[in-house]
Amino acid sequence: MSPPVFIFIISMFINLSHGMQMPYMTSDPKEISGKSFDYIVVGGGTAGCSLAATLSEKFSVLVIERGGSPYGDPLVEQRNLFGYSLLKADEYSSVAQSFTSRDGIENYRGRVLGGSSAINGGFYSRASEEFVKKAGWDKDLVQDSYKWVESKVVFMPELTQWQSVVHFGFLEAGFYPYNGYSLEHTQGTKIGGSIYDTCGKRHTSADLLGFGKPNRITVLLNATVRNVIFDGNKTRAVGVRFMKSDESSSKSYKAHVEKHRGEVILTAGALGSPQILLLSGIGSKKHLKDFDIPVTVNLRGVGRRMSDNPAISLLVDRFSQNRTLEPPQVAAIAEDYKFILESEVLPTDITTTRISIAAKIAFPKSKGRLRLNSTNPRENPSVRFNYLESEEDMEACLEMVLHLQHVARSETVTLFLGTQSQEKLLGGDEELKSFCKENVRTYYHYHGGCVVGSVVDEDYKVSGVKRLRVVDGSTFEESPGTNPMATVLMLGRYQGIKILRERETEKEEEDERLLTPQGSPQPQP
Ligand SMILES: Cc1cc2nc3c(=O)[nH]c(=O)nc-3n(C[C@H](O)[C@H](O)[C@H](O)COP(=O)(O)OP(=O)(O)OC[C@H]3O[C@@H](n4cnc5c(N)ncnc54)[C@H](O)[C@@H]3O)c2cc1C
Ligand SMILES: *[C@@H]1O[C@H](CO)[C@@H](O)[C@H](O)[C@H]1NC(C)=O
Ligand SMILES: *[C@@H]1O[C@H](CO)[C@@H](O)[C@H](O)[C@H]1NC(C)=O
Ligand SMILES: *[C@@H]1O[C@H](CO)[C@@H](O)[C@H](O)[C@H]1NC(C)=O
Ligand SMILES: *[C@@H]1O[C@H](CO)[C@@H](O)[C@H](O)[C@H]1NC(C)=O
Repeated sequence: MSPPVFIFIISMFINLSHGMQMPYMTSDPKEISGKSFDYIVVGGGTAGCSLAATLSEKFSVLVIERGGSPYGDPLVEQRNLFGYSLLKADEYSSVAQSFTSRDGIENYRGRVLGGSSAINGGFYSRASEEFVKKAGWDKDLVQDSYKWVESKVVFMPELTQWQSVVHFGFLEAGFYPYNGYSLEHTQGTKIGGSIYDTCGKRHTSADLLGFGKPNRITVLLNATVRNVIFDGNKTRAVGVRFMKSDESSSKSYKAHVEKHRGEVILTAGALGSPQILLLSGIGSKKHLKDFDIPVTVNLRGVGRRMSDNPAISLLVDRFSQNRTLEPPQVAAIAEDYKFILESEVLPTDITTTRISIAAKIAFPKSKGRLRLNSTNPRENPSVRFNYLESEEDMEACLEMVLHLQHVARSETVTLFLGTQSQEKLLGGDEELKSFCKENVRTYYHYHGGCVVGSVVDEDYKVSGVKRLRVVDGSTFEESPGTNPMATVLMLGRYQGIKILRERETEKEEEDERLLTPQGSPQPQP
């Protein structure tokens, strides 16, 4: 067999074995400029890709993503480089973009096709039944949507040595019952799913694009959406304006949605979606005035109810011996889901690593706000989360530190690490309080800014304007599950199916109208 044929067959096999044919991707805005699509999905992130794949089953979809492709990027794909993308973050082009909230806490957001699912810990865990009920979602469709995602990008991890030590540590510290491998959100200690497969390769949400009708999807990479465009009366969205992501030019381009029923759907994440709404004139009149942005809809809720789960991370191995990097594989869920504990091995630089056991407060009371810092869509908006501002959150933090100390001092953990000389045990409210204040950090599960019931309605449609929706983590009032990614992926699928069904019903109604013409005489019996 000649080499090219051989390679062709191999690559065909690889594609088939993953069931994947990827959509057309381009980084040239001129190719897209002036074109129309049934749907424009803004942000090819966690929710965006699962939504676009689903809509493509019946309609043409344009996905506009400010970052590049995740394929072939070792920082994205390889588990043995887990965490490096955060070390390599820069302002305008890295796959992880760093931002510092006004609280002074360092944080990250994805900037690549696949979004934050391309830089995160990959831990996969569904929302609780209570969460689904409270959201008013159709339980069966939620199940089907989770399963659709799981059959494509979720794997059962093989526990590493350290992760199995940690899960015994959790049990020793009293996080019962033991639930084994489970994707459900239930009290106790469990092994969760992972988007890393057993060969250590990450499967981001971008892989989902291969599971719709890829030939109906166009992906525009390295293009940043500046704003949504509306019709003359500002009653409905008709398209978007975008520019190249690199700073070389401020030239902008437009793409449109199909006149009859097309929609723009924002899936730019908890920072991106409120930012784009504000840049499109949807937000509080007063704030828009500060930046001379003409008001499309005076919608006070945009950028409000921003929230991040306060977290504490206890370093358990400071001088580590060049361990293999490890994303989290096990979680401890406290009574009433109050705290979530996990552990990971992260790089501190090229040769050293740190092992920490971390916990987050699952339902923080403190809320913050996102505001524009400039009208440049390539810059981070400014956000404040007000970590531990509410007394209740501070009380919870004290309790959380005690739990963490129990795990860190469990026999299994100390024996394994050989760390007999632990740091002094923290005790007493004042000591714990100042520890919390000084050490509070993020678990990267920030959410809100376009919350359901405030900015979008139950169908995720933006209030006050037609043909515009938001479908991503910005719509959550609370972060679901132990970790939100599973539910964000599910939400893209779920809302996609809802939209397809809505269109189907509209079509039936229209067909009926056409079959029974108004005003024509009824046939006599
Ligand atoms: C470091 C880290 C670790 C995490 N670990 C886990 C974990 O282990 N498990 C878990 O469940 N969750 C984890 N999370 C949280 C989870 O990844 C996010 O909550 C989730 O991915 C958010 O999805 P999203 O669709 O709302 O936004 P994103 O996935 O961030 O998608 C938004 C997309 O929109 C694009 N975009 C933004 N603005 C524009 C614009 N103007 N024009 C064009 N494109 C734009 C972005 O580039 C991005 O691709 C982690 C997050 C981080 C940052
Ligand atoms: C797209 O952006 C990525 C990340 O900044 C970069 O590596 C890549 O070269 C860009 N591609 C094009 C065609 O501009
Ligand atoms: C838009 O405005 C024009 C003129 O102001 C008016 O004639 C037209 O009916 C309006 N269209 C809608 C959909 O409101
Ligand atoms: C850690 O391991 C890597 C590769 O396995 C090696 O290149 C590096 O030198 C090691 N660092 C230390 C401090 O041992
Ligand atoms: C906001 O903009 C100012 C100047 O334009 C800059 O110095 C500051 O760092 C920005 N803040 C954020 C949060 O990006």
